[in-house]
Amino acid sequence: MGAVLFSVLLSISVARAQEADPARYAIVPYPQQLVPAAGDFVITSKTRLVLPSDKTFFSKEAAQLQALIRQGLGQALPVAAKAGNGTIVLKQDTQLAGEEDYTLAVTPQQVTIAAKTPTGMFRAVQTLRQLMPVAIEGVKNAKLAKMAIPAVKITDHPVYGWRGMHLDVSRHFFSVDYLKKFIDLLALYKMNKFHIHLTDDQGWRIEIKKYPLLTEQGAWREFNNQDSVCMEKAKTNPDMAIDQSHIIRKNGKTLYGGFYTQAQMKEVIAYAAARHIDMIPEIDMPGHMMAAIKAYPYLSCEGGSTWGPLFTTPICPCNEKTFEFAENVYSEIFALFPSEYVHLGADEVEKSSWAKSPLCEGVMKANNLKTVEELQSYFVKRMEKFFNSKGKKLIGWDEILEGGISETAILMYWRSWVPDAPVKAAKNGNKVIMTPGNPLYFDGIPDRNSISNVYHFDPVPKGLTADEAAHIIGAQANTWTEWIPSEKRADFMIFPRMTALAEVLWTHRQDYDNYLLRLHQQYKRLDQLKVHYRMPDLDGFTDDNVLVGKTVLKLQKPAPDISIRYTTDGTAPTMSSPELPEAFIVPGPGTIKLASFSPSGSSSDIYTLNYRKQSFFPPVNVEGLQSGLQVQYFGSSYKGVTKLPDTADSIVHVSNAIIPEGMGKGGKAFGAKLVGYIEVPETAIYSFFLTADDGANLYIEGDKVVDNDGWHAPVQKSGQVALQKGLHPFELKFVEGGGGYTLKLEYRVNGGKIQAVPDSWFKRK
Ligand code: ACM
Repeated sequence: MGAVLFSVLLSISVARAQEADPARYAIVPYPQQLVPAAGDFVITSKTRLVLPSDKTFFSKEAAQLQALIRQGLGQALPVAAKAGNGTIVLKQDTQLAGEEDYTLAVTPQQVTIAAKTPTGMFRAVQTLRQLMPVAIEGVKNAKLAKMAIPAVKITDHPVYGWRGMHLDVSRHFFSVDYLKKFIDLLALYKMNKFHIHLTDDQGWRIEIKKYPLLTEQGAWREFNNQDSVCMEKAKTNPDMAIDQSHIIRKNGKTLYGGFYTQAQMKEVIAYAAARHIDMIPEIDMPGHMMAAIKAYPYLSCEGGSTWGPLFTTPICPCNEKTFEFAENVYSEIFALFPSEYVHLGADEVEKSSWAKSPLCEGVMKANNLKTVEELQSYFVKRMEKFFNSKGKKLIGWDEILEGGISETAILMYWRSWVPDAPVKAAKNGNKVIMTPGNPLYFDGIPDRNSISNVYHFDPVPKGLTADEAAHIIGAQANTWTEWIPSEKRADFMIFPRMTALAEVLWTHRQDYDNYLLRLHQQYKRLDQLKVHYRMPDLDGFTDDNVLVGKTVLKLQKPAPDISIRYTTDGTAPTMSSPELPEAFIVPGPGTIKLASFSPSGSSSDIYTLNYRKQSFFPPVNVEGLQSGLQVQYFGSSYKGVTKLPDTADSIVHVSNAIIPEGMGKGGKAFGAKLVGYIEVPETAIYSFFLTADDGANLYIEGDKVVDNDGWHAPVQKSGQVALQKGLHPFELKFVEGGGGYTLKLEYRVNGGKIQAVPDSWFKRK
């Protein structure tokens, strides 16, 4: 054996030996370096805690560790002066590089945690917590006699400094208790920024002492059309019911709303700070200000605010009284929130009232501003000067690029359909926080691909040098709550995909299968913490299925303690519906509804499986075909694929079922038909999985195999077709309503893996 080969084999076997068991070390986000070891350190009431000589340095983190131990054993540990057998030692290590860095060494004799700062120590305690039994979570006293911690050596630090979550408390309101629960979960997964979207058209949620009407009036509304959608959905999904605690009766009217007093917000900020999480306030302006303008009509150029084609009338950047208001509001916000970063918003501004305003005409002339976009920049830049004068740094949504950005503003990128925005900003030297709608808008309804999409998200956009990439300071997921009317629904939308984001941002390790195994353990912790997360998906079927002879439905349970239940009468499965047998013979054409249930009674999405009879389609015989598909392009806006006309505006060719690059550039609406043949290698029932934003339908042999039509965010729909080996007519119709699209076609055959359809299967005339 050659030396090189030998050393390769040796390093493989070393790596194997050190591969950590994901159930034993179920840490999320995974540490940068983890060396597993045999044996456990066992915490009992005799274990002692050893603090550094400066007892105050880690005193808060020591108390937090003691609280976790008390939850397990029912009592805190006695403190000892010296390290030794049976001690947990907290140490300061000034040699560590970053303030969040830490090391954790667990041997059967001793636990040693070292960090440079209290922040690093807090992160380390969260790691240790995830190595403790899940029984300690969410209880006052689990009455454990001992807690075994697996031996390990961990060296850890985050890759990104901005590991954020956003919550919109305007569209629907969330209690102080829920904010604390949210913060606890951020802390558990080492997230460090909580961006709270405090104001919008639908409600003003923070007390401002100088302008009492902002909350007296602006925090309350009659039910709006978003509430109506939620109420309609609540008929079949109790999570969509509006939280009753935010509904009041006033002057004979039913009103929805609520706000945080400054005292309450101080308490929440302190709660976050104790968990080393910064709270970033956003008072969104100059747009999204209807709640404020209704209370103070002088704030807009025309007095009052109404809905325009897309957005509401903004405040007027041409009136000094607007700046006086904005600065007064922000002065109170600055006094409340210690964060050096503050979010001005500045997204989605309907500027027509500025264009019509004589005041604005004067301001634009005086400041040599050519467009209303430049007028928006003038507003943002003036506000940034004010922020800076108070020691604050301004963050704005990516629209702040449009009329010219300052050198120092921080760009929060969200518009997936403007892919060059973060690239431009980073090249300009601005810091950038990535929150692209796809996949980081957690108000998008999660499906079976959501976790993977988040896990495989790369915060650094293409087209940056390494130096420029350093301007990408991290990423964040945003949770807009127009259609999230309850705390349970918020949990469902955010979890578990936030844990994938946490791993992207802390570790940036790409080992999805291993992550899923660890996530599986995390579900137990989340169960204990009463997090109403989205249950793991059921797999092994499609939405539309074909019956060819006797058809057996065989599903694997996501976990042994989960039950899968079904109905065949169209009703939603409940805990008392029959359990699906291991091999279920489909009784005939019709509908089967499935759902899974955890032992605690949490239920999954409801899966509707439609069955129809089919025979295998015989192949067609066509000569002289070329590889690929024809793309017929239609350059208008179509609400659905059935609206596409017969005659295309232009025709191009592609190698697979994809939209060619450049089509729909700049967020344009369009339609497309991908036409040709699909050549399948064997006679079988083929399952196709079609992910589309907006709508797409798949037809094979003229038979509608997948219906994913209509305008929507990326959604996967699936269907089956029974095909004999050979060539079959293929057509995929697609519509994009504007704003950026997704189109992906995958297949599965004979219970195999879901995979891309190979190029070699596509043929065209
Ligand atoms: C946004 O989603 N309007 C930032």
